[in-house]
Formats: sequence, C-alpha cells, structure tokens
Amino acid sequence: MGKVIILPEEIRNKIAAGEVVERPVSVVKELVENSIDAGARRIVIEIINAGETLISVTDNGEGMSKDDAILALNRFATSKIKNMEDLFKIKTLGFRGEALASIASVSKMEIRTKTEKDNGVFIRVEGGNILDILPWEGSIGTSIRVKDLFYNVPARKKFLKSRTTESNLIVDFVKKIALAYPDISFQYIEDGKTKFTTLGSGKIGDVIIEVLKNINLNDLIEFENTHGDYSIWGLLSKPGKLVSIKPQDFFFVNKRWVRNLSIFQALKEGYKGRILEGYYPFAILFLNVPYDEVDVNVHPTKREVKFEKEKEIFSFIENSIKK
Ligand SMILES: Nc1ncnc2c1ncn2[C@@H]1O[C@H](COP(=O)(O)OP(=O)(O)OP(=O)(O)O)[C@@H](O)[C@H]1O
Ligand SMILES: [Mg+2]
Repeated sequence: MGKVIILPEEIRNKIAAGEVVERPVSVVKELVENSIDAGARRIVIEIINAGETLISVTDNGEGMSKDDAILALNRFATSKIKNMEDLFKIKTLGFRGEALASIASVSKMEIRTKTEKDNGVFIRVEGGNILDILPWEGSIGTSIRVKDLFYNVPARKKFLKSRTTESNLIVDFVKKIALAYPDISFQYIEDGKTKFTTLGSGKIGDVIIEVLKNINLNDLIEFENTHGDYSIWGLLSKPGKLVSIKPQDFFFVNKRWVRNLSIFQALKEGYKGRILEGYYPFAILFLNVPYDEVDVNVHPTKREVKFEKEKEIFSFIENSIKK
C-alpha cells in the first residue's frame, strides 16, 4: 500500500482550504515544504522570470511511488494526516493534501520522482489533466517543475506585482526557510545564476553569513529558555545594534515560519526601556510548543497560527527576552 490517502469527508470540511496559490512565492513555499516533509537534506530551487516561466524544486527526500504521485495530484490527498485526531497535533508542514492539486490546476507541471524501492516515474500535467506517465531513471528524490504559472487563469496573472516584487518575495521566503533548517542545504538559482547555497552544516551562523549579508554575527546574542513544555531559542540584536523601524518577521513556531502579532508584541515588551519606542530589534526566534497547543489550520496559506494558551506564550516570550 502507498503512503498517500484521500482524506475522508468529515476531515476535509475541517480544513482551512481555499486560495493556496496566490502568487509564485506560494508555489515555492508549498514545494519546498513538501521537500522538507519528505526528509530532504538538499533542496535546489530554480526560478526563471520571477517564477512566471519556471519554478523548479528538486530534493533528495524519500520520493513517491508512481501510484502515490498520481494520487497526490488530487485534492485532499495526503500522507501526513489520517484522522481527525491528527488534525489537532500537526507535526509536518503540510497536512491538507491541497498544494499539488492546486498548483497543477493552474500551471504546466512535470513531476520526476523515485523512492528507494520503486522505479522512478515522470508525470506531465497541464491545467490539472495528466498527459503523460512514463518511466524515469534518476536518483531517489523528487523534482517538480512548474511552468507557465497561471497560463489558464489570466485574472490571477493580472494581480501579480512587478517581477522585482515577486522575485523578492521568493528570495525572502527561501532565506527564511534556510534559516529555520540549517541542517538542510538550500541552493537558490535565479535566471540561471546561483544566488546562494547554504551548507547544511546545522549551524545557523553559517546560514546567516550566507543569506543575511547585512547582518554581522557579532551584533547578535544567543538566548534560550524553557518553561514546562515551552522552549525558545534565538538570536537577538545587542542593545543599540541593528534596530529598525520595520518589524522583521523571523519567527518560527515548531519550525514553521509564521506571522503572529502577539510574538511581535511580546518581543517589544521584552525590549521595553532598552530600545526607542516605535523601533524593533533584530530577532530570530524559534518557539517550540506542544503540537496539540498550536492550531495551524487557521488560514489556507498556513502562515497564521493560534495558540491555545496565548497569554502563557506571551509572558514566556517576554520573560525569555528580558532575561
Ligand atoms: N517532494 C516530495 N517528496 C515526497 N513526497 C511528496 C513530495 N511532494 C508531495 N509529496 C506527497 O504528495 C502528497 C500531497 O502533497 P501536497 O502538498 O498536495 O499535500 P500535503 O503536503 O500533504 O498538504 P498541504 O496541502 O498542506 O501541503 C504529500 O502528502 C506527500 O505524500
Ligand atoms: Mg504540501
């Protein structure tokens, strides 16, 4: 039996589904998250024309069998959750079984994949319709090429911003995910040129040197704290260093990059008196909370999370920073 199943109706109705693919960066995010969930140690991301012409993500993860790869192109097809209980303690980045189906329906997609025990397969899909399924000889892992994004939905294409804006969104995302996974080597190629490659050494300092060129490691201090089931680890700017008027969102909850207002607020409270009102310190925060206390099934893009114990988390972050 394969690993992918179609989720039963009662779970489908509970999933925050919808606009998963708004713009090229959404595709990059979904594909890279799939690679991480597949246990990849190396992920190569290639973009042409800000993702409109090509988005390609290649990993050396566990791959898919032919049947799983075909099944995975359906909505609500996933190997990551099985029942309602799983939905309330999500450990993987993906869980809805939506991303591949959504991307495939608005692009021309090629999948090349191979597992340790199955023969490799090549699948060509256009606008959601499978056109070819052929044997493929390659190494273990998965490569997904998304061409001509939104070729069949001109309305969505019209909503895209300038190429510079779209490609900045992509590079910012890849940098963030590379920071969150220092043990994975990420190579980012834009219009044929490698923009950066992280080592996969497991050391966040190595990633910072490679992707955050304007940050001096000497301006940062490491901090960590635990309290019951909560733990936090991160890097903060030393007093007087690297302040900015814009909050930077390097916040990760259980290694998921999230946007969360109360984390910003807790950070500001923690810095109170040490930084001018209206300014933000530079901070990379990794917060770990029990899986069943954080709801990631809030928004279709999975960018928002809800904490069951918001107040406790808030004071935990604030106190950890004050320390
Ligand atoms: N790079 C990959 N390597 C191995 N398996 C993959 C890869 N990408 C997708 N899959 C398989 O295909 C399934 C469907 O992927 P898809 O992204 O559509 O859904 P998901 O990751 O389960 O949930 P979500 O919609 O939240 O991302 C996955 O559950 C996984 O089993
Ligand atoms: Mg996914």
